[in-house]
Amino acid sequence: MTFEFYKILHLSGLIFLFFGFGGLLVTSYAGVTIKGPAKIMGFATHGLGLLFLLIGGFGMLAKLGQMGQMPGWVIGKIVIWLFMGVGISLVKRKGHLGWPIATLLIVLGTTAAVLAINKPF
Ligand code: HEM
Repeated sequence: MTFEFYKILHLSGLIFLFFGFGGLLVTSYAGVTIKGPAKIMGFATHGLGLLFLLIGGFGMLAKLGQMGQMPGWVIGKIVIWLFMGVGISLVKRKGHLGWPIATLLIVLGTTAAVLAINKPF
């Protein structure tokens, strides 16, 4: 596999993750209890997104030859990735709050992008 393959998988994961978050959060904010295939769509896209982000991220790291001594920005992204996993229960429990939860997820996702692009540490 090429570096480009892993990067596209990574970005596709980002789309899946926020598709799932968005669906689950907006329905919860609207006070709608989703069931059956709609619920599966929300949770499955969130889970697949996390998986694609992780495979794509580590795939790129391997291609960059940075698997051994992981730089600080990668550690930061792994922490954000872990939070995105826990974030689904936050959406489930506190999704009715709407904007504060949306803002938190968007700020964290954007921070993960800044870490990879600017590599501040
Ligand atoms: C929620 C979690 C994450 C988000 C939102 C995210 C987002 C992004 C974005 C937007 C880019 C920029 C792609 C580009 O240059 O066009 C990127 C690149 C990258 N990410 Fe992530 N990422 C996440 C998690 C991770 C994790 C867990 C790892 C490592 C295991 C990782 C490793 C990388 C690497 C190696 C790059 C490429 C850096 C380069 O081109 O020099 N990311 N990520």
